[in-house]
Amino acid sequence: MRTEPRRLSRRSLLRAGLAVAALAGTASACDGLARLSARAGSTRLRSPARFDTPLAVPPLQEGLVAADGTRELRLTARAGRSDLGGPRPTATWGYDGPQLGPTLRARVGEQVRVTVANELPETTTVHWHGMHLPAAMDGGPHQPIAPGKTWTPTWRVDQAPATLWYHPHPHGETEEHVYRGLAGFFLLDAPEGPDGPGGPGAGLPHRYGIDDFPVLVQDKRLDEDGQLEFDDHGNEIGLLGDRVVTNGVHGAYLDVGAEAVRLRLLNGSTARSYRLGFGDDRAFDLVGTDGGLLERRVRQTRVRLSPGERAELVVRLSPGETVRLRSDGAELGDVVVPEVFGADDTADLLELRAAPALTPAAPLPATLARIERLDPTAADRVRRFELEGREINGRRMAMDRVDETVTLGATEVWEVRNRNLFPHNFHVHDVQFQVLTIDGEPPPPELAGRKDTVYLEPRRTYRLILRFEDHADPRTPYMFHCHLLLHEDDGMMGQFVVVEPGDDAEPVSGHAHH
Ligand code: C2O
Ligand code: CU
Ligand code: CU
Repeated sequence: MRTEPRRLSRRSLLRAGLAVAALAGTASACDGLARLSARAGSTRLRSPARFDTPLAVPPLQEGLVAADGTRELRLTARAGRSDLGGPRPTATWGYDGPQLGPTLRARVGEQVRVTVANELPETTTVHWHGMHLPAAMDGGPHQPIAPGKTWTPTWRVDQAPATLWYHPHPHGETEEHVYRGLAGFFLLDAPEGPDGPGGPGAGLPHRYGIDDFPVLVQDKRLDEDGQLEFDDHGNEIGLLGDRVVTNGVHGAYLDVGAEAVRLRLLNGSTARSYRLGFGDDRAFDLVGTDGGLLERRVRQTRVRLSPGERAELVVRLSPGETVRLRSDGAELGDVVVPEVFGADDTADLLELRAAPALTPAAPLPATLARIERLDPTAADRVRRFELEGREINGRRMAMDRVDETVTLGATEVWEVRNRNLFPHNFHVHDVQFQVLTIDGEPPPPELAGRKDTVYLEPRRTYRLILRFEDHADPRTPYMFHCHLLLHEDDGMMGQFVVVEPGDDAEPVSGHAHH
């Protein structure tokens, strides 16, 4: 049952007024946004009062390998109630539980099949974010699962080991479904197992729930009743909550027994970006990003994550100490009135508590992975994507319109630009891309690995290089979009198909013109 009435009308009203001011990018935009920032006090992220609940580590689901070698996984989406630290349990949605979902795990080279059952009161989808797979298995808006139905996609895992995730992608409803709690991790291991002994990444902590933890970071806002608030975004980018949860827990602590701990950080928030590090500014080793391990670890004290992005880091602890994972100063670039978008917010998210004696850890390997660099001079073509308001290249998403047709095997350069003075990011389905340049300069190390989502600072040009391999289907599109989910739902999304050389896109299946 839906407990809230549809809120779109209020939302759109508020947005419509703001959009005009913000798009202008002038003094009036600043005025409009500043006025709102004064009003929207509860959008400011705050540290939990106490860190007194153990971090929930999502159960690992490795499934069973059938006789034909297929790894069989299973998810059931349903409604439930969760403790988000409010005055009473919060109505939430989850996979196999009241919120979030199990961590799915498979090996590169395996065929996987996931049976997804929808026990929710409305149609949803499950998208495998970051996965290279046929468009019909992608779980975007063209693969709806009606209430009471199941969907059984299958594909061969064929990409670098990585920390991916899954979440709903129903057309126009993604923000709400994710915010209600639907999201989970999907870990891909090397063929020989976690990090593949002797393979790339060997030597990184990899014991799930012992020295290797998924940490999903989200913000929520609760009403006096302890229920999720959806209304009144109060800004141009979507809902900003004041309450941070890690793996669905507000004020979580994590007991750690190892000297070196790997955190697989995922920003599963609908709109908020974070700049994550530790309370004492200690350095950590950044070892991986969206699509897998970096070539070499990078010593950093902070990493920025916009919605949908992942970062894997290894942090070292001393016996008996306590340190907190913190977000501060999200560094959103040249945005107008940054505080409206949470750029000034500082909050502790999770407390790490080291045991009095810690299992010693091996030094990290010098080389983590090999990444074949794609060569822009050999690219087949360049496409440009201008993000402005809720449009990409002046258009909003239409389910029956294919915006770009890509030839199988092509290497392309995509030039992406945020024309607004507020945040956007850019996510492409099916592929992991490489960031070639930002305003002509090489990207920082954290953007130099495999990426499927990249934050777009206002008025900068991001040159991405992508190669489209393996899966041609002229009638089933993949998506590219802003991963700020309000924007995505409002149509800041386009569709591309991958076709065999010489072929054209065909009418989108299920949406043929009559
Ligand atoms: Cu994470 Cu098209 O989505
Ligand atoms: Cu995706
Ligand atoms: Cu956007």
